Amino acid sequence: MIDRAVETLRAGGLVAFPTETVYGLGADASNPAALKRLFDVKGRPASHPVIVHIARGAVLGEFARDVPPVAYELAGAFWPGPLTLVVRRRTDRVAAEAVGGRDTVGLRVPDHVIALQLLEAFAGGIAAPSANRFGRVSPTTAQHVRDDLGTDVDVVLDGGPCTVGVESTIVDVTGPAPLVLRVGGVGEDALARVLGARPARRTEGEVAAPGTLASHYAPDARVELVRSDAVEGQARLLRAEGFAVGVLEAPADVAEYARVLYRRLRELDARGVDVILAVAPPETTGLGAAVADRLRRAAAGAH
Ligand code: TXA
Ligand code: MG
Repeated sequence: MIDRAVETLRAGGLVAFPTETVYGLGADASNPAALKRLFDVKGRPASHPVIVHIARGAVLGEFARDVPPVAYELAGAFWPGPLTLVVRRRTDRVAAEAVGGRDTVGLRVPDHVIALQLLEAFAGGIAAPSANRFGRVSPTTAQHVRDDLGTDVDVVLDGGPCTVGVESTIVDVTGPAPLVLRVGGVGEDALARVLGARPARRTEGEVAAPGTLASHYAPDARVELVRSDAVEGQARLLRAEGFAVGVLEAPADVAEYARVLYRRLRELDARGVDVILAVAPPETTGLGAAVADRLRRAAAGAH
């Protein structure tokens, strides 16, 4: 299956593959035609950069130039893992089409055995956004990918449910100080242990990480955030108004919450509910911040 996936990538095709965060929709990062097809299938504007996945930290310098020491420190501490580093791009290994013509590229080494086997065998960068259609919730199982993309994807590698469940943390290391562009699988407390201080966040606004718009994390149903002691009362009021209400059951453990978040949102959508009531976890711990961030964006992206 890995062989067929590699052949497909070499031929300019699209391969969906599991990572520890969410499933990615992969194309050869150096092939403009393959990248064009990737953006078409995904329904994503060409100006939105995608993350390029690489096999090992040691090849960082093949894909990036002028890499600052802090990037090596973060890569050493968190790769393979749910951290994306925005660095200056090497134009021979990463085509302009992968990054909307930017001078930078987001690189990451995913922590999943199938993704790593694929990357080693392909021996190049794999550009991969989350394998959902533009504007839908990220997929955390191979079935989610098939539900969204059907026959538009040439190969789907099934690695079971994703173990982290929310996307990678994105840190931009091209400026004078590291900047968090998206909270995710690596907590800011963990980053602080390596950096010596908590990095600043720039997670709002189009300049930060283009594509982290609210609607990208929204299910079809409207999402309302409520206090845990208000769920029943609000559900009753909404039902009295004739709305079909689904409650997102929140696991007490934030890592478990992250793992099931997107799957539960999809399940509630599939039940056809109008409104999803959700309780955000405390943001004090790393994954709690990521779950709270995605829920806030889901609620703001109300249709
Ligand atoms: O966990 C993840 O990061 C998953 C898996 C598949 O690796 N990928 C993912 O990709 O979430 P995507 O395309 O759905 O989100 C990528 C985010 C976008 O918000 C994009 O704006 C940002 O990364 N990004 C990518 N390259 C960037 C760059 N050069 N500068 C700033 N932001 C960048
Ligand atoms: Mg995405």
